[in-house]
Amino acid sequence: MANGTTGGTTTGPAGDAGPGTMWAVRVHAFGGPEALIRERVPRPAPGPGEVLVRVHAAGVNPADRYQRQGFTNIPPELRPRPELPLIPGSDISGVVAATGPGSRLQVGERVHGLVNFPGRSAGYAEYAVSPDGDLARLPDALDHLTGAALPMAGLTAHQYLTRHLRPAPGSTAVVIGAAGGVGHLAVQLLKAAGVRVVAVADGRHEAFLRDLGADRFVDYTATPPEEVIRDADLLLDTVGGPHAHRLLPVLRRGGRIAPVFLGDYHPARTAALGLVLDPSMWQVRSSGADLADLDALVVSGTVRVAVSGTFPLAAAADAHRHAERGHLRGKLALRVVD
Ligand SMILES: NC(=O)c1ccc[n+]([C@@H]2O[C@H](COP(=O)([O-])OP(=O)(O)OC[C@H]3O[C@@H](n4cnc5c(N)ncnc54)[C@H](OP(=O)(O)O)[C@@H]3O)[C@@H](O)[C@H]2O)c1
Repeated sequence: MANGTTGGTTTGPAGDAGPGTMWAVRVHAFGGPEALIRERVPRPAPGPGEVLVRVHAAGVNPADRYQRQGFTNIPPELRPRPELPLIPGSDISGVVAATGPGSRLQVGERVHGLVNFPGRSAGYAEYAVSPDGDLARLPDALDHLTGAALPMAGLTAHQYLTRHLRPAPGSTAVVIGAAGGVGHLAVQLLKAAGVRVVAVADGRHEAFLRDLGADRFVDYTATPPEEVIRDADLLLDTVGGPHAHRLLPVLRRGGRIAPVFLGDYHPARTAALGLVLDPSMWQVRSSGADLADLDALVVSGTVRVAVSGTFPLAAAADAHRHAERGHLRGKLALRVVD
């Protein structure tokens, strides 16, 4: 497990921020991990239907890195244009510190969630404001690191499967990027839905994925999956990219491609092969209710959340460097309260 202790630039001394302020990691100019700067900023206040959460842990997701870079990996016509300075991060786990008018939550309750996504988020901080509806109560059995690691990756896998794809029990799904944040949770949710899973990942993740229930494992670094997999019903592709179309042979005629990230699947060839390609990518959304459903699966042991690395908030830049080296297994999280 990575356990970073060095990190991004800090302005001001370490320790508690003063009253009315908080420590946060902000981006003032889009760029590499060094753009993440820890500094004292005003503490936000909850509005109607919102709460202020004392953040104990924050999840780290690829979207945080895209945000930090100014979404340069997204085509200009689709690219969000966030205002600067921004506090990145949308996955939080913590304790309600104050409630806005009309909030149904109580001060002192343990909560977690994917906050304001898609939209303006601010998770890499000691305090974050969230709409009530984005939060679920964190079950006693779950710690804050798990609570922070689960929301975006778990909601993505859960919403793809329950709202969008609804794969039939007995069907076969190929999961590309199976060891990553979304992938390792999708493998388990597919298995729980009675789907046969072919997990595609680097060979170093084989034991991990078989332990999570994968029926078959393909090491893409040794064998191109398109050469050895045939007749699958569903391709859940968390990697995408310009060469995504190479994977088309894994599907049977009528099989479905579910891109989790942007990829070029050669739509004309896809149609000629009789494959189903969604016209646009499904986008995960904040939902405290969906997260509560997922929590129940984690508490019952049906789904395991793998947290493979934790870093202090002040070392958010190291967490991003670690993620950018690739080969992630499960999730990374920031410790905001040690
Ligand atoms: N549509 C949505 O709403 C939505 C929601 C959440 C995330 N996403 C996107 O989905 C993508 C995945 O997110 P994540 O959180 O799962 O990322 P992640 O934790 O970084 O996982 C990515 C995984 O892909 C593996 N990988 C890289 N190249 C591969 C290849 N050619 N074949 C198989 N595996 C490969 C990586 O491991 P190795 O390097 O060891 O291969 C890693 O385990 C990101 O681009 C993210 O932005 C979209």
